[in-house]
Amino acid sequence: MKDITTYEDVLNLITRFYDKLILDEQIGHFFQELNLNTHIPRVADFWAFILIDQPGYSGNMMTAHAKLHLSEPDFERWLQLFHATINENFEGTKANLAIERSSLIAWTMKSKL
Ligand code: HEM
Repeated sequence: MKDITTYEDVLNLITRFYDKLILDEQIGHFFQELNLNTHIPRVADFWAFILIDQPGYSGNMMTAHAKLHLSEPDFERWLQLFHATINENFEGTKANLAIERSSLIAWTMKSKL
């Protein structure tokens, strides 16, 4: 397995992650109303900035979640699916970084929301 090194890798990761998210019994409902054709590239841009230093994301991801009323188990499930998608498709420094950063951001988000 390869590491996450290009924008295509990031987009691939996020697309596979959302394949799981939208079908998930616990948190799938949060994603039902979204236009995934625009949402997925935004999330990919966010991760491309973190993982491969590619500028492009211009949003406020913290406020994007404020109205969703997310609970601790929702965050746990989100992280479980994100980490599973990474581990199924990639390995290496950036894959590990994605796991670390997602846990850190989820923790920060939880404490702010
Ligand atoms: C319980 C966990 C989570 C749920 C259910 C969730 C759900 C959502 C939803 C529904 C949106 C769309 C908001 C909108 O456009 O109105 C969104 C946006 C987003 N989420 Fe999450 N999220 C969760 C956790 C996270 C975490 C931990 C991260 C990052 C580590 C993250 C990254 C993003 C990004 C980058 C966006 C795009 C914001 C933008 O459009 O600029 N999410 N999320």
